[in-house]
Amino acid sequence: MIFGRIKPLDAILATAEKKSLTRSLGAFQLTMLGIGAVIGTGIFVLTAEAAQKAGPAMMWSFVIAGLVCAFAALCYAEMASMVPVSGSAYTYSYAVMGELIAWMVGWALILEYAVAAGAVSVGWSGYVIGLIEASFGMDIPDALVLGPFDGGLINLPAMAIAGLVTWLLVVGTKESATVNAILVAIKVSALTLFIVLAVPVMNMDQFSPFAPTGFVGISAAAASIFFAYVGFDAVSTAAEETKNPQRNMPIGLIGSLLICTVFYMLVAAGVIGAPGLSSQPVVDAAGGVLEPGSRELAAQCAARAAEGFKDVVCSKEALAFTLREIGWPQIGNLLGLAAGLALPSVILMMMFGQTRIFFVMSRDGLLPKAFSKIHPTYNTPHVITVITGVFVALFAAFFPVGQLANISNSGTLFAFAAVAIAVMVIRRKDPTRHRPFRTPAVFVTAPIAVLGCIYLFISLDQKSIYLFLGWAAIGLLVYFGYSRSRSHVGQGVVDVPEDDTDVPPQPVPPLPGAPTPGGKQA
Ligand code: ALA
Repeated sequence: MIFGRIKPLDAILATAEKKSLTRSLGAFQLTMLGIGAVIGTGIFVLTAEAAQKAGPAMMWSFVIAGLVCAFAALCYAEMASMVPVSGSAYTYSYAVMGELIAWMVGWALILEYAVAAGAVSVGWSGYVIGLIEASFGMDIPDALVLGPFDGGLINLPAMAIAGLVTWLLVVGTKESATVNAILVAIKVSALTLFIVLAVPVMNMDQFSPFAPTGFVGISAAAASIFFAYVGFDAVSTAAEETKNPQRNMPIGLIGSLLICTVFYMLVAAGVIGAPGLSSQPVVDAAGGVLEPGSRELAAQCAARAAEGFKDVVCSKEALAFTLREIGWPQIGNLLGLAAGLALPSVILMMMFGQTRIFFVMSRDGLLPKAFSKIHPTYNTPHVITVITGVFVALFAAFFPVGQLANISNSGTLFAFAAVAIAVMVIRRKDPTRHRPFRTPAVFVTAPIAVLGCIYLFISLDQKSIYLFLGWAAIGLLVYFGYSRSRSHVGQGVVDVPEDDTDVPPQPVPPLPGAPTPGGKQA
C-alpha cells in the first residue's frame, strides 16, 4: 500500500529528545541564517538567465517565486518545529505519509542539494574567471572554463571548487555562526553597493518592451529564479534552537524572504536600467528566443559582442559586468571578489545537506550501509561525502548553471509540495500533538503552497521536467529492487541511534514514544 510503513513520529522524536539544544536563537539571528543560506548564485548569476526568459518583466518573476516560497516556508516551519530532526522533508514524509513517499522525497532531495551544489559551483566559476580576466587583462580559453553546452569543453574551476568543498566536509568543516555573519555581511554589502551605484543611474527607456515574452516567459523565469530563494529551509530546521518559535520562526522565515525579495528586485531593476546595456532576450534570425545555456545562444552572444552589443543575458557574472559597463570597473571586480568568497559557503551548505539526507536514508536501511560509514579520525560520513563530491564535480564540469538550477528546482518543488501536504495530513491525523509553531490558516496556506509548487514545476523547461520524471522512475526501480526489502521499518525495527555513528537499529520500543537510552539526534 502506498501509504504503508509509517515510521512512528514518537520514535523519530525519541531520537531528538535527548538532544535538548538550548533555545538561543532570536528573530534577528534566524533572519541572518536565512539570508546566509539564500543569497547566492540565484541573484549573482541567474539574473541573466531570467532576463533571457522574461526581459525586464523578470522583476515579476522574483515576486512570484518569493511568494511561493513564503507559503511553502510557513508549512515547512510547522513540520520542522514538530519534528526537529535531521533529514528535513524526507523525515517529515516518513512520519506522515509512509516510506514510499519518503523515499521519493529523499530521492528528489538529491536533485535539490547535489545538483544545486553543482549549479553554485558553476556560478562561482563564472565570477572568479571574470575577476581574473578583468584584473589581469587575461583571456582564459573558454574550453577550460565553460561546459560543452555553453561553448566550452569542461569547466575546470567549477570542478575544483566542488573538490575543495568536498575535502573541507570530509575533514569536518562546519560553518560557524561568526563565519556565517561575516559572509552575510559581505553578500549584503556587495548587493547594497550594486544597488547604490546602479539604481540612481537607471535609464527607464530600457524597461520597454517590459514583457517581450509575455506571461509564459515570466512564469518560466520565475521557475528558474526560484533557485535564488532555495535554502530558507535552513531557518525551519533551527526550530528547536529558537526562543519563542511561534513568534520568531515566521519573522525569521518571512523576514529573510522579504529582505531577499526587496534586494533581488532592486538589483534586477539596476541591471535592467543600466545605461548602454540590454536586458532584452537575445533571439535567433527568425526572432525566436534562444535557450539559456545553449550553444546557439553562446554563438549568437559572441556574434553580437563582436558587433559591440552589450547584452546582460550573455554574461556569466551579470552584476559585475553591469558595474564595469556603467563606469565602475574596480567595484565590479570587488563584487566579483565578494561572490568568489561567499558562494563556496552556499556550496558547503548544499553538500552538507546532501550528505545528511543520504546518511539518514542509509541509516534507515534504504541505501547501502557503507554510505553511513564514519571516518575514524574526522568523525564525518566520508564515504558518502566523497561520492556526493564526485557527482557534484561532474555536474559542475559539464552542465550550464541554468540547467542545473532548473533540475534542482524540480526536486525542491516536489519536496516542498510533499511537506505542504504532510502538514495538512498530520493536522487531521494528530491534531493534539504539541506544535511549537503552527502554520497560520493551514488549510488555505498549504493548498496555495502546493498549487504554487505545481505551477512553478510545470513552468520549468521540458528538459528539466523529463529529467525529473526519469529520475523519479529510476528512484522507484531502486526502491522496489533494493531498498524496500532492506528497510529497517519494513523489518520491524526503528532506528533510534546513539549519535552520528552507524549504530545498529534498535528494536521498536514496547510503548510508542518510550525513550530509548542514549537516543540522540543525527
Ligand atoms: N539560493 C541559493 C543560491 O541562489 C541556492 O545560490
